[in-house]
Amino acid sequence: MANVVTSVLFVCLGNICRSPSAEAVFKDKIKNSGLSIEIDSAGTMGYHTGAPPDQRSQAVGEIRGYSFKGLKCRKVVIDDFEKFDYIVAMDNQNVSHLLEMCPEEFKHKVSLFMSFTTSDVQEVPDPYYGGKRGFEYVLDLIELAADGLLATIVASRSKV
Ligand code: 4NP
Repeated sequence: MANVVTSVLFVCLGNICRSPSAEAVFKDKIKNSGLSIEIDSAGTMGYHTGAPPDQRSQAVGEIRGYSFKGLKCRKVVIDDFEKFDYIVAMDNQNVSHLLEMCPEEFKHKVSLFMSFTTSDVQEVPDPYYGGKRGFEYVLDLIELAADGLLATIVASRSKV
């Protein structure tokens, strides 16, 4: 079978809390899977461009064994829509912003991260203005959704 590479872009508002956490968790999930998956993250706004992930995200993530090494905030660019197979948003506002800038032919690639789960929770909420518990909850949701996304990718690749 050909070595298929699937690519995933995680998107939130600032690209310093949720989407870099999703990137770190998903990189860890696929580490020993033998799958070729390219993973990146970006934000719909550029206020924190070049900054590392938020210290609070790093603190709760590192306790669970995830690495944030080398991650740097960047804004979503138009080429992302062609480049990535899955463009995975944390909340409905992210989806709206993405669809506003996404060329028509790539709109089917944009989805909500929680849609890869059977949970009633539909969004990974913005933890930026809250406390530590909010960051832990974000990570709980990301870990759950990462399993669902990986299962979806594995199922789609078995059809290739
Ligand atoms: P994120 O959180 O979208 O999960 O990275 C935020 C980070 C920064 C801001 C808002 C949300 N901000 O307004 O600066």
